[in-house]
Amino acid sequence: MRKKVDFLVIGSGIAGLSFALKVAPYGKVLVISKTKMAETNTAYAQGGIASVMYKPDNFKKHIEDTMIAGDQLSNPDAVKMVIENGPEQIEQLINWGTNFDKSEKGKYDLHKEGGHSEYRILHHLDNTGFEIQRALIEEAKGHENIEFAEDFYAVDIITQHHTGEITYRWRTDVECYGAYVLNEKTGKVDTILSKITMMATGGIGNIYQTTTNPTIATGDGIAMVYRAKGIIENMEFVQFHPTSLYNPKERPSFLITEAMRGYGAILKCKNGEAFMEKYDERANLAPRDIVARAIDNEMKNSGDDFVYLDVTHKDAEETKEHFPTIYHKCLELGIDITKDLIPVVPAAHYVCGGIKVDLQGRSSIIHLYAAGECSSTGLHGANRLASNSLLEAVVYADVAAKDAIETVKDLKHNTKIPSWNDEGTTHNEEMVLITQTNKEVEQILSNYVGIVRSNLRLKRALDRLELIYRETENLFDDSIVTKELCEIRNKINVGYLIIRMAMRRKESRGLHYTLDHNRLRTKR
Ligand code: FAD
Ligand code: SIN
Repeated sequence: MRKKVDFLVIGSGIAGLSFALKVAPYGKVLVISKTKMAETNTAYAQGGIASVMYKPDNFKKHIEDTMIAGDQLSNPDAVKMVIENGPEQIEQLINWGTNFDKSEKGKYDLHKEGGHSEYRILHHLDNTGFEIQRALIEEAKGHENIEFAEDFYAVDIITQHHTGEITYRWRTDVECYGAYVLNEKTGKVDTILSKITMMATGGIGNIYQTTTNPTIATGDGIAMVYRAKGIIENMEFVQFHPTSLYNPKERPSFLITEAMRGYGAILKCKNGEAFMEKYDERANLAPRDIVARAIDNEMKNSGDDFVYLDVTHKDAEETKEHFPTIYHKCLELGIDITKDLIPVVPAAHYVCGGIKVDLQGRSSIIHLYAAGECSSTGLHGANRLASNSLLEAVVYADVAAKDAIETVKDLKHNTKIPSWNDEGTTHNEEMVLITQTNKEVEQILSNYVGIVRSNLRLKRALDRLELIYRETENLFDDSIVTKELCEIRNKINVGYLIIRMAMRRKESRGLHYTLDHNRLRTKR
C-alpha cells in the first residue's frame, strides 16, 4: 500500500498528539502507533507536569533548578524557552480537556519533587499521564484531518538512500520523504509519503532488564534516525528512577512516584536506618541521579535486593487520597503502604539524549522533526529534573508545529520512492534467536552500562554487543521483517550509541557516573 499525507506523526503520546492537533488545520495528518494509541510512556506518568504557576515561584527559580539538575550541561536557550512557554502550554492542555487537581480554594494543587525548590507540579491524582493521554486522544479523534493507524510499526524513515540517488554530501543534506511502515494486520510494509515527518517515538527503557517503561519503549525513533545518518547526542545520560516497586516478576516495574518523597516519604535500609542525609543535604529530595546512586551503593554494601520507602508516619487517609493508584497496587501485593514499608529499587526510566533538534524542533535531517523523549533538545543536560519531560514534549511539539506549518506550504511529495523490497527474504521461524538476543542485550546493558560504569565495563559491553550486532544484521537481511526483529535491531543500535557516547565522556557528570573519573559523592 502507498499513501500520501501532509504530516506523518510517528507516535501517539503527548509529543505526537499535541503536534498533530496543532498542524491538523493545515493539512492531512496520519498518526501511527506501534500498538494501541493509548499504550505510551505518557499514559504511565504519575507525578505530573512542572510549570511555574503562582508566587513565590518564578521562571528564574525553575530555570535554576533545571540547570542544577542537568549539572550545568543543559542548553540555557532551550531551558528558558521551555520554562517560559510552560504556562501557555499548560493552558492548552487544559483547553484540550485535561483535568488537573485543584485545592478547595480553587487554585491548582501543586506538588514538589526532587530537585525542585518550589511547589510547581500540576497533577491529576497519581495518574497524571493517563489523564493527559485520555484528553489528547479524545480531542484528536474529533478532528476531521487526523487519521489514526494502530499496529502500524515504522521500520525506517525514507531518505535519498532509498531513491537510489545518494545526492547528499553532508549529514545535514539528508532529506526525509516519509517512512516504511509494517502494517501488522497484513504483514506487509507500506510506503507512507509525507511532506513533513514528526518523530515522537518515546523512550528506550526496554534495553534494560528492569524498567518503568511499557514494552513499546525500545528506542525505535532514535535508531531509525541514527541509521538514516541523523545526529544523535547525549545518549550516555540514562536516568534511573530511584523508586520502582521491587517485584522481580513484573515488567514494566511499577513506579512509586517521587511526589511521595515530596509528600514526606523517607528512604530507609532494611535495618530501618534513613540513609539519604549521608549523601546529600537535600536528603530524600536530592536530584534523581544522586538518590539512585545512593540506593545502588546501599544495596551493594548490604547485599540486599532493595531498600524501603517509608510513608507510614503520614496521615493514612491523606496518603490514600493523594496516591490511590499506588495504594491499591501495593495492597494487591499484600503491602498496606499506610502501615508497611514499601520495597523499592532503581529502574531505567528516561533517556535525556536522543535525536538532536534545534529550537524549532528540527532534526539534522531535512523535513524531519522530533519531539518528546526520543529528542534531545538540550533541556535536560546531564540529568532531567523530575516532571520536566511532559512539559518539554508539549512545548517542543508547539514550536515544531509552528515551523512545520510554514514549511509545508512550499513542499511536494517525492514520488520517486520505491516500494519496500523483501526479495530473497524468508520467514524467520527462529523466534528463539530473537528472544535470547533480547535477553542478552538487556543483560549486557544492565550489567555494564547501568548506574555505575567504568572503562572496563563499557569495553566489555561493546565487545559483546558487536557480536550480537553482526548476527542480527545478517538475520535482518535474510528475513521478512517483523516487529520483533526490528525492535531487537533498534535496541542493539541504541545500546551501541549509549556505550560509545559513555566511552567518549571522560568525566562523571550527572547521570553518567564512572569509577574511572571520580568516586561516589558522600558527605562525611
Ligand atoms: P510516548 O508517550 O512514549 O509515546 C511513544 C509513541 O510512539 C507510542 O504511541 C508508540 O506506539 C509510538 N512508537 C514507538 N516506536 C514506534 C514505531 N517504530 N512505529 C510506530 N510507532 C512507534 N514525565 C514527567 O514529566 N512527569 C511524570 O510524572 C512522569 N512520570 C513517568 C512515569 C513513568 C512510569 C514513566 C515510564 C515515565 C514518566 N515520565 C514522566 C516520562 C514521560 O512520561 C515520558 O518521557 C513522555 O510521556 C514521553 O512522551 P512521548 O510522546 O515522547 O512518547
Ligand atoms: C515520578 O512521578 O516520580 C516520575 C516523574 C518523572 O519521571 O518526571
